[in-house]
Amino acid sequence: MATAAACLRQGGLVAFPTETVYGLGVAALDAAAVRRLFAAKGRPADDPLIVHVADAAGLAPLVAERPPIVDVLAARFWPGPLTLVLRRSPLVPDEVTAGLDTVAIRVPAHPVAQALLVAAGIPVAAPSANLFSRPSPTRAGHVLEDLDGRIDMVIDGGATQVGVESTVLDLSAGVPQVLRPGAVTLEMLRPLLPDVRAGGVNASGPQRSPGLLDRHYSPRAPLTLYEGAVERVIDRMRKDAEAAHAAGRRVGLLIPDADPAVTAARLYAALREFDAAGVDEILARLPPTTDGLSQAVADRLRRAAAGRVVHCG
Ligand code: TXA
Ligand code: MG
Repeated sequence: MATAAACLRQGGLVAFPTETVYGLGVAALDAAAVRRLFAAKGRPADDPLIVHVADAAGLAPLVAERPPIVDVLAARFWPGPLTLVLRRSPLVPDEVTAGLDTVAIRVPAHPVAQALLVAAGIPVAAPSANLFSRPSPTRAGHVLEDLDGRIDMVIDGGATQVGVESTVLDLSAGVPQVLRPGAVTLEMLRPLLPDVRAGGVNASGPQRSPGLLDRHYSPRAPLTLYEGAVERVIDRMRKDAEAAHAAGRRVGLLIPDADPAVTAARLYAALREFDAAGVDEILARLPPTTDGLSQAVADRLRRAAAGRVVHCG
């Protein structure tokens, strides 16, 4: 841990587990190091990073204002999978925020992430530790698949627990808006934040979160999403799979039927397994949206499908 913390302080790139997905950490206030991180991931410079701090006190130097709701949310959800977007202080480099006047901040709950942040003693910017547009890593092996040779180290903490990225909540504009659904759901936020609304990819108007583009989180094989009543979906998927198979194509079938939390935890590993198996296409059933985590799963599957959706009535 001391070696990893020293590496971060010297501007190195250290991948580490959080409770959501593995992050690729870098000293957040070191603009040159942050540019190296963008290069290592192949990430477009207009996609801002989340700054990770050990506790809510770490937020103070990074923000220009701290509405009282921040402390209410922090007391309830930090450490945990909630990212807050707030007006930034001049301390935060443009490289981190992609030139926006806001900064995204979270306090991760994973004990390894906590220990690393405490040992480093600096704010750590950390996007998911995947190559741009690949599924986020939920195991150390996924990080190495994408980034071996491009980063300084990875701390192996086993499989992550949540499996999908943190909820991103924008508090910087008038109405609080969830830009990316995650394990902290609208239903959980509403008692503290009655006017919170869903937003993000489907919101009209200017893009508030530049990273929320379609064709994100994608396996290499094209993924088609099947939506509708389960019998019709399975029927249609079987027909399409048989047709593809008859045409000599290798097909991967993703039919989540578990508890939404289990589906979320396994989703990205499953997409990577299809790539490793060399399938030509993936057919995926959209699981019913019951609770909030199922909404996060549906959101990631829709992005992976990038518009290839079959409605089965
Ligand atoms: O769970 C997570 O959040 C993981 C772990 C490592 O903490 N991190 C993660 O980072 O998913 P990344 O870079 O893959 O996704 C960050 C998201 C992007 O959609 C980005 O556009 C959004 O947060 N974001 C960052 N700064 C923002 C800002 N100032 N305003 C709006 N959205 C922002
Ligand atoms: Mg990412």
